[in-house]
Order: sequence, then C-alpha cells, then structure tokens
Amino acid sequence: MQQLIQTLKKAELHIHIEGSLEPQMMMDLAVRNKIQLPYANVSQIEQAYNFENLQSFLDLYYRGMSVLQTEQDYYDLMMAYLRKVSAQNVVRAEIFFDPQGHLPRGIAWSTFMLGFERAINDARFELGIDGQLILCFLRHLPESDALRTFEAAMEYRDLFIGVGLDSSEQGFPPHLFKNVFREAKNAGLYLSAHAGEEGPAEYVWEALDILGVDRIDHGNNAIKDLELVRRIARDKIALTMCPLSNQRLQSVPDLSLHQLRDFMDAGVIATINSDDPTYFGGYLNENYFAIADALKLSEIEIRQLAENSLLACYK
Ligand code: ADE
Ligand code: ZN
Repeated sequence: MQQLIQTLKKAELHIHIEGSLEPQMMMDLAVRNKIQLPYANVSQIEQAYNFENLQSFLDLYYRGMSVLQTEQDYYDLMMAYLRKVSAQNVVRAEIFFDPQGHLPRGIAWSTFMLGFERAINDARFELGIDGQLILCFLRHLPESDALRTFEAAMEYRDLFIGVGLDSSEQGFPPHLFKNVFREAKNAGLYLSAHAGEEGPAEYVWEALDILGVDRIDHGNNAIKDLELVRRIARDKIALTMCPLSNQRLQSVPDLSLHQLRDFMDAGVIATINSDDPTYFGGYLNENYFAIADALKLSEIEIRQLAENSLLACYK
C-alpha cells in the first residue's frame, strides 16, 4: 500500500507553509536571526508538540514563525517544503500563508512574497512541481484587519490564486468575514475557509452560503448534518481533510473513527492533506499511510483520493 501511495501523482491542497517549519530549521533561524526561543534544543521543541486542541497548537505555531525574518528565510522554508513533497510525488501544491502572522512583527510584504515566489519558481524549474499560494486571513482578528491586509496584498495580486480563512475557529464564524470574501471574489480569486474542524456544521453552512467558498478546509463536523452532506456532494465542494492533524489536535477520538470514509460513501470529493506537517508528524504521504491503515482503505479508495486531489485543484 505504501508503494502505491508513493507512486500515485497527487496534489496537496491544505498545507500552511508556516506549519512546515522543521524544528532544526527553527533552531537554525533563531540563531541566525538572534531570536529568543523558549527551547534550548530540537528535542525540547519536539517535546512541546503535545497538543490538547487547536488553540494549544496555534500558540506554538505563532511563536515558531517568529524566527522567519529575511527573504532568504522564507525562500528556505518554501524550498524545503517543495523538495520534500516533490519527492512524495506531489505534482501540485496550493499553499496557505498567513500575512497577519508576519506583518505585525515588522516583516515587509516584499520579504515573504518575494521569498516564496523565488522558491516556487526555482522548484518549478528544478523539480517540475507546480506551487501556488493562497492568502489566509486570521479569523481571531477583526475583519477590518483582514480588509486592510487584503488591500495591501493587491500589490502582489499575481502571486496568489485564492484566499482562505484560518486560526481559532470556535467563536469566529465565517459570516464575520463576508465583506473581505466579497472583495476577494470580485478580484477573481478562488475562495476557501477552514470550517467544521472544531466548529459546528453551522459554520460550514455559513462558509458555503455567506462566503461562497469553492472548497471547505477540514469540514469534519459537517458529517453531523445529512442535509449539509448532501449539499456538499451535490455542489461538488471538495473537502481538504487532514487526518494526522485531526488526531494530534484531538478533533477525532481515534483515527479509526475518522469521518473520511463516510464522506466518500456519500459521494463527497474528499482529499487528504497534511495541514502543518512538522507539527503533526507527517507530510502528505504519511497522512495517506495513516488513514489508509486506520480505515483499511482499499486500493480503489486510495486511487480515488489521489484523483480527487487533482480534480479539486484551483485551475
Ligand atoms: N493554521 C494552521 N493550521 C491550522 C488549522 N489546522 N486550523 C486553523 N488554523 C490553522
Ligand atoms: Zn489548516
């Protein structure tokens, strides 16, 4: 099965580039940029990756990204990810980034945008992988901040294909971001939102009906609402699911109880992704291995998942 997963051509549609920062790179960049981290070495970083829920992860994730300072740091981060997944037979990656995690630290737009762009271009040339960017808004911040961010991003409009919505879900329903998503739609961008990861099925309805998203990131809790599942299947809304993330953030009690197969059986275009690979213990193929094992997926189902990922690309 692992051989099959390795050889299948796949797309990754739900990966936060800041969540691909390897502990070793975090240490190296902290030294290079003279940033204080509350860890003395790599094993202390790894020991801290012991999450109870989404928020306990996000606290570490925002702290970890503080080591990213220069254009070269962003280049190195992006290039390391693209090299890693190209070797896993990922032919296309649609990659989230969080401007609001960088700008308040005094990092200029050009620093991260040009670092990402240079790495994506080099990887296309050297490895043949097709990387694309999706700009995410942090939902724990007010929509006015997202609107300001979006306006400033327009200078780099050609460097990203869509917008997303991430960070703390509970208490931050999608409807709070309807104006900025309307602007993104008017600018011809693709739209996605994290919904139903920890939040209720209602948030998935809002992402569809109020934001008008083309894809749902996670979507696990949509399974609790049959009418919603039918809607997602009927409208061919792809779900970008992340098994190891769900396991490590305890959004499913056990991987054998993961909602993936139920969605597939209902005719939903479900896909497998890594979310934040270094924090959750696996890149794309490790996510396929884990869920194939836990749900005893057949060869046909695994092929279907890889095919779904190519079908659900923004192009
Ligand atoms: N940012 C990075 N990973 C995330 C996740 N799984 N959910 C919400 N926001 C995130
Ligand atoms: Zn995510």
